[in-house]
Amino acid sequence: MFERQLPNLRQNNYSMKILSVLIFLCTSSVGYLYAQSGEVIYSMYCAGCHGAQLQGNTAAKLIKTEWKYGRGRDAIFRNIKFGIPSTEMIKWGGALKDEDIRALADFIVAAQEIPPNADRPIPESLTTKDYTLKVEKLVTADIHTPWGIEFVDAHRALITERIGAIRWMVDGKLDPQPIQGLPKTYAQQATGGYMDLALDPSFSKNGWVYFAFSHTRGSPADKSAEGMTKVVRGRISGHQWTDEQTLFEVPDSLTLSGGNRWGGRLMFDTDGYLYFSIGDMARANDSQNPGKPSGKVFRIHADGSIPKDNPFVGKPGALAALYSIGNRNVQGIAQHPATGEIWATEHGPMGGDELNVLKKGANYGWPLITYGIDYSGEIVSNDTARAGMEQPVVVWTPSIAVCPAEFVTGDLFPRWKNNLLVGALAFEEIRRLVIVNNKVMEQEMILKGVGRVRDLKIGPDGALYVLLNNPDMVLRISPDKGS
Ligand code: HEC
Repeated sequence: MFERQLPNLRQNNYSMKILSVLIFLCTSSVGYLYAQSGEVIYSMYCAGCHGAQLQGNTAAKLIKTEWKYGRGRDAIFRNIKFGIPSTEMIKWGGALKDEDIRALADFIVAAQEIPPNADRPIPESLTTKDYTLKVEKLVTADIHTPWGIEFVDAHRALITERIGAIRWMVDGKLDPQPIQGLPKTYAQQATGGYMDLALDPSFSKNGWVYFAFSHTRGSPADKSAEGMTKVVRGRISGHQWTDEQTLFEVPDSLTLSGGNRWGGRLMFDTDGYLYFSIGDMARANDSQNPGKPSGKVFRIHADGSIPKDNPFVGKPGALAALYSIGNRNVQGIAQHPATGEIWATEHGPMGGDELNVLKKGANYGWPLITYGIDYSGEIVSNDTARAGMEQPVVVWTPSIAVCPAEFVTGDLFPRWKNNLLVGALAFEEIRRLVIVNNKVMEQEMILKGVGRVRDLKIGPDGALYVLLNNPDMVLRISPDKGS
C-alpha cells in the first residue's frame, strides 16, 4: 500500500525502497498512518539535505523560527510543491502528490518547538549597515488589519483598517473611538475592504481625506455581489466623516463578482495629481484592455476630474482616468524625491514580483509577459519581454509579496537619503533599496519574520512608521542615539 504512495523519482532506487518499507514497518500504526507517512517521505527525500532530525545539513535546518521563504503550513507546502528557484530546493510537485506534500508540511509543522504561525517577539533593536535602530511598539491591541497611515500633523495620524474603519492615532496611541459615518465596504474576500488613504496636498487648509475601498451596489453581505474599487474623499471633523464625494467609480457594466486583488494604493505627487491602483481582480486578461478598470494604475485631479493630458483621453472605449496598463496588482506607489518619477511595486503571480518606474501610457505587460507562473503551477506566459512593453527595474523570484514603497526623506536617516524602503507581506520583510540612475545597486534586509508589512511611512518627525498585519501593530523605527 505504501509502495503505491511512493513517488516515482529517479533517486528512488531499490535500497531506498527497502529502507523506507523497513522504517514504515517499524513506525506505523494504523491511526497515525497519515502523519507517519510524512516522516517517512521526509527521511527518504529531504533528510539528505535538511538533516535526519531537521537540524540542517547541506541545506538550512527546518526546525526554526526564522523562515526565509514564508512561515506557516501554507508557505511550507508551497515551497515544497513549487521549489525555490535558483537554489537546490527543486520543485517536488512533479514527483510527490499533493497529499504527500501536505503530509510533509504537517510533519515539519508538528516538529516545531514554536508553532510556525506563532507571533514572533518584535526585536527592540536592529542592526543595519548604517545605523543601530530602535524599534518602539506604538499600537499592539485593538487594531484590525491596518492598511494605510497618514500623518495630519506632528501628533496625529489617520489609519485605515481593512474591515472598513478609520482610526486616529494620537501621540502614538490608538484613539479607541473610530470615525463615524463612513461608507460600507465589501470585504467578503481575503482581500478588499478599506485600503490606502491619502491627504490633500493642501490638507491643512481644506481638510480633504482620500481613500480607496472595495465597493458594491449590492449587499455587502452577498458573496456573489458585483463590486469594484472606488475612491472617495471627505472631511473628518472630530470623529465624524462628512462632505463625502465620489471621485472614481465604474458603471455597473464594469463591476465584477468574486474578484480579488483590488489594488487600492493611493498617492499624491508633488504636482497634485492623485494616483491609485486597481488589481486584476483575478481577470488577468482584462489588464490589457483599456476599456476595463482591472490591472491598471489611474491618475486623476484631486476633485476627481480627469487630467486633459492623461494618455487614454479621447481614445474610443478607453477609460480616460488610466495612467498605465498591464499592472497585475500595484500595492506600493512612491515618488522619487530627486527625479520626481513615480515608482510602483507590483504583486506578481508565483515568482515575478516587480518594481517598476511608471511611465505615462506605458504597458507593463501582465499577463502577456511575466517572470512568474500561476499558483496552480500553470504557465501564464512563456515571454518575459515583448516590444512595446516595459521591463521591471527589479524582479523578486520567489515572490516576496511586495507591498508598500516609501522613499526615505527628512533628517533622521541622512545616510539613507532617497533610498527606497519596500515591505513584504508573505516574506514579512522590510528591505532598503539603494537606487542609482534607476538601477537598484543594493538591497539590505532591515526587518524579517515578525509580521506582514502593509504600509511604511516616514512621519513628520523623520522616523519610519510600520503597519504590520498578523500580528496587527504599529511600529516606530528610528536610529538609536549615537549610531
Ligand atoms: C538537494 C538538497 C535539498 C533537498 C533534497 C530538499 N531541499 Fe529543501 N531546501 C534546499 C535549499 C538549498 C533550500 C533553500 C535554503 C536557503 O536558501 O536558505 C531549501 C529550502 C526549503 C524550505 C524553505 C525553508 C525556509 O526557510 O523558508 C523548506 C520548507 C524545504 N526546503 C523543505 C524540503 C522538503 C520537505 C524536502 C523533501 C521533499 C526538501 N526540502 C528537500 C535544499 C534541499
